[in-house]
Amino acid sequence: MAYKLLFVCLGNICRSPSAENIMNHLIEEAGLDSKIVCDSAGTSSYHIGSPPDRRMSAAAAKRRIKLKGRARQLQLADFKEFDLILAMDNQNYWDILALDRQQQYLDKVHLICDFASRYKVQEVPDPYYGGKEGFDYVIDLLLDACAGLLEYVINSDAELVRQ
Ligand code: 4NP
Repeated sequence: MAYKLLFVCLGNICRSPSAENIMNHLIEEAGLDSKIVCDSAGTSSYHIGSPPDRRMSAAAAKRRIKLKGRARQLQLADFKEFDLILAMDNQNYWDILALDRQQQYLDKVHLICDFASRYKVQEVPDPYYGGKEGFDYVIDLLLDACAGLLEYVINSDAELVRQ
């Protein structure tokens, strides 16, 4: 069975679709696309059904990453479905945990920046109301964090590389 990762931000049109597609890019490069599956969601319902933000897609395209997908909202069933849930910022983290009222899945929820190595920051900042450079920063930070995350997943699930 594939290892399942869910990336979560507020709107699911900027940061989490970037994380999802960057991660898929790294997974393909590593030849693990049949073993690790990615998805993304938003804590809010603001942009359900929308494609990724154009400014975010432009920043990703500079790194040869195409942003695919449509926004959806995080739902209770996701806690069971996914092995790891990665929050972009502290607010997302608390909003995710608020949905899991019995804190049954606390161990699955992490801040994605915990997996970064070059960047020593806790959060992926919301680029929505800022300038172009904010979107570029999101991509660079996520490239670093997703590389660390892939290493973590490979090391924590020996089954992944064995078959
Ligand atoms: P995201 O960015 O959470 O990275 O998708 C945002 C997108 C939309 C809004 C805020 C953040 N909004 O307020 O509509």
